Amino acid sequence: MRSSSKYEEQLSTFSKNSRVVLVTGGAGFIGSHTVLVLLEQGYQVVVLDNLSNGSYEALTRVEKLVGKRLSFVKGDVRDQSLVTSIINKYKISDVLHFAGLKAVAESTLNPLQYYSVNIEGSLALLQAMVENSVKRFIFSSSATVYGENAKIPYREDSSRGTPSSPYGKSKAAVEQILEDLAQADDSWQICCLRYFNPIGAHNSGLIGEDPEGVPNNLLPYISHVAAGRYSKLNIFGGDYKTPDGTCRRDYVHVMDLAEGHVAALQNLVAGFDVINLGTGVPVSVREMVAAYEAVCGKEIAFEIAPQRAGDLPEFWSDCAKAKQKLSWEAVRSLKEMVEDTWQWQTKNPLGYHNEE
Ligand code: NAD
Ligand code: UD1
Repeated sequence: MRSSSKYEEQLSTFSKNSRVVLVTGGAGFIGSHTVLVLLEQGYQVVVLDNLSNGSYEALTRVEKLVGKRLSFVKGDVRDQSLVTSIINKYKISDVLHFAGLKAVAESTLNPLQYYSVNIEGSLALLQAMVENSVKRFIFSSSATVYGENAKIPYREDSSRGTPSSPYGKSKAAVEQILEDLAQADDSWQICCLRYFNPIGAHNSGLIGEDPEGVPNNLLPYISHVAAGRYSKLNIFGGDYKTPDGTCRRDYVHVMDLAEGHVAALQNLVAGFDVINLGTGVPVSVREMVAAYEAVCGKEIAFEIAPQRAGDLPEFWSDCAKAKQKLSWEAVRSLKEMVEDTWQWQTKNPLGYHNEE
């Protein structure tokens, strides 16, 4: 990968014929795994990332794993003139938009920042695309857009609900903007992928999830307990109306997700669509703890703590649409998700920082 201090980044080995995909947020968790699969599939990739929560090292490792080069531009997705220059320079044909902020609790404390990055960022990107007649777009959405009252399993034909957090509202708002855009101009090809709970890591153990500070999400937190960095896990709520009293979620391997993006890209059609990416299988927090213990061979100490504000007792995906429209389904088991998470943790106890 070639990088320059400013915007310029050229990949000399681009061949003239293959599609050039702009991946915003490609240095982050899901983006980096998707970049890997895109390169493996023969796409040329340009990553735009401000590295606020991503790592240049992740992209270096992706290049090593695949044996191919990508282009990297350090910058903010809200910078429309930068995006325009990238689209022109690299002759971008397709955009995968991962760049955004994702910490739910933080979004309630700093909603303006979340609306700015997640909504203004999407608008700037879309406006730059309009200027340059690039109209193939895949958006990182979330199961959170179903809101609090949707029927389980979540199906794409139920309407968007009202998510409880500014984070969730920003995702629902961008989906609405995209729907309106496709309505106004039928030459757009737009797909919103609604992720359930992405976990796991590439099975090389070289790329994975590297949260800043104390992790908010379950798997990174359990990993740190298993690694001895924290003494115990707080399980948020043991009195939900679920089989074992703890929340149930649909955890999906990040490599399955990455492959889901390439399937979505290959099956993009005119108009606006939303597609769930999940496994359809609910797993409780206690089941996840047990699965992790089985893989790492250690006891995960935990305590039942009060419920976390905004948590829903349970939800999971109806996966029929992804199978029908993308010929995609998650194939990696819970055991593989946990094994790959643990391998990533043990090989990179400090995430990417030990090499930066
Ligand atoms: P991540 O934080 O690891 O990746 C996001 C990337 O975007 C980071 O590399 C970050 O540096 C970059 N970024 C942030 N603000 C930017 C800006 N203004 N300009 C340019 N780059 C910027 O998160 P992730 O888990 O890989 O999530 C990717 C996308 O998927 C996000 O939009 C997130 O909201 C969405 N999503 C994630 C989950 C999840 O559980 N991880 C679930 C549903 C949806
Ligand atoms: C959260 C967000 C969701 C977002 C996703 C990915 C909320 C309400 N939802 O999903 O919008 O798309 O992260 O960023 O925040 N848990 C514990 N102890 C912990 C951590 C988690 O018991 O230390 C439990 C939670 O209560 C939950 C489950 O583990 O039941 C999964 O939590 P988490 O990984 O944070 O994901 P979600 O809350 O499902």
